[in-house]
Amino acid sequence: MDDYKIKHVEEGLTKIEFPEYEKVSSDAPVFYNPHMELNRDLSILAIQVFQEEQEREINICDLFGGSGIRGVRYKNEIEGVGNVCINDISETANYYERHNIELNNLEDIEVYQHDASMFLRMKRGEFDVIDIDPFGTPSPFLDSAGYCARRNSLLCVTATDTSALCGTYKEPCIRKYNSKPYKSEYCHETGIRILAGFVALTLSKYGKFIEVKMSHSTEHYMRLYIEVKKGPKKTDESLKNIGYISHCKNCLHRQTSKGLASPIEEICPVCGEKLIHAGPLWLGNIQNKEFIEKMIEQTEHKKINTKKQALKLLNSCLLEAEAPVTFFDVHTVCKSLKISAPKLDLIFDEIKKEGFVAIKTHYNPLGIKTDANIDEINKILLRICE
Ligand SMILES: C[S@@+](CC[C@H](N)C(=O)[O-])C[C@H]1O[C@@H](n2cnc3c(N)ncnc32)[C@H](O)[C@@H]1O
Ligand SMILES: [Zn+2]
Repeated sequence: MDDYKIKHVEEGLTKIEFPEYEKVSSDAPVFYNPHMELNRDLSILAIQVFQEEQEREINICDLFGGSGIRGVRYKNEIEGVGNVCINDISETANYYERHNIELNNLEDIEVYQHDASMFLRMKRGEFDVIDIDPFGTPSPFLDSAGYCARRNSLLCVTATDTSALCGTYKEPCIRKYNSKPYKSEYCHETGIRILAGFVALTLSKYGKFIEVKMSHSTEHYMRLYIEVKKGPKKTDESLKNIGYISHCKNCLHRQTSKGLASPIEEICPVCGEKLIHAGPLWLGNIQNKEFIEKMIEQTEHKKINTKKQALKLLNSCLLEAEAPVTFFDVHTVCKSLKISAPKLDLIFDEIKKEGFVAIKTHYNPLGIKTDANIDEINKILLRICE
């Protein structure tokens, strides 16, 4: 452990040290990724909002601790936190987690060395917040999270296997999430919905259902904040949000159909080509307006280095909370019409003038979430270009 130079970083109000390594890699003796600071800052905001909603002290589990940065920051920077457990399978990680707890003079924070699933099984019902931030897919750990999670708790889930969730590689997505992806221009939203759908189906085994409070796809990862609720009847009701997105490659029409095993239309109602289906996935809300408004308000009370980026993302997600499922990419639509793309603001104005909603999305700067269908969008674009 002494052979490495020690790196010192500061995020929020917290100091963290770990062995320096030339690149961000799972081969590092202790994993630390500076590009995840936004993810951690948003977690501080989301967990603080959740704590205030509970109106009591909350216990937190940082299931994949690494340097311990999440658990240590949560205890140090969030009001109303009781016990924090930091777990990691690596002994070296445990060493630095303890070191960082001391460095920040914290109490009521414990370090464990277990396999993540075993740890959750041992600690059933003990946590108000479970943070799942593994290498790659969270899929193997969600069953134990479903078993462990208590009523009205918060599940924070990161996935970095975006190539599977977005459909670059289809088979890994089917294997890990039991869902067929499709690589469309809105595949990052589909990916978040596949992940949320998989969480919902996994938790349903334990009579638990989900309410997604906030979600985002940023750089190479996706992150979801999910409130876990309990009750078999409501779980049955909630599973009606599982369904499919069907896409027409020919004309860019897309439609949704709810139900795990309900019949799905095979033919595009606009052009008559065969539709391609993605799913099962979550067609319920993936942004919660009230929760995101409170996260935005929290940015006033927290010291976070990524404030500007966080606010931009949160304001976009806030608008998306009231937007339709999927979005159109302006360049893709214009390419299919063989026209050059008009100014984005003009397109938004014209769509709204026709009485449709037109909302920007954090997934893509050229994306438009709208209730106008592809025929209506084509007409508007052709008229602008006349
Ligand atoms: C992506 S890193 C965690 C990063 C950390 N949460 C952060 O924000 O910097 C994943 C961690 O999971 C640990 N790990 C890998 N497999 C595990 C398992 N089965 N159970 C518990 N920890 C595991 C690794 O040692 C590594 O420290
Ligand atoms: Zn079509």
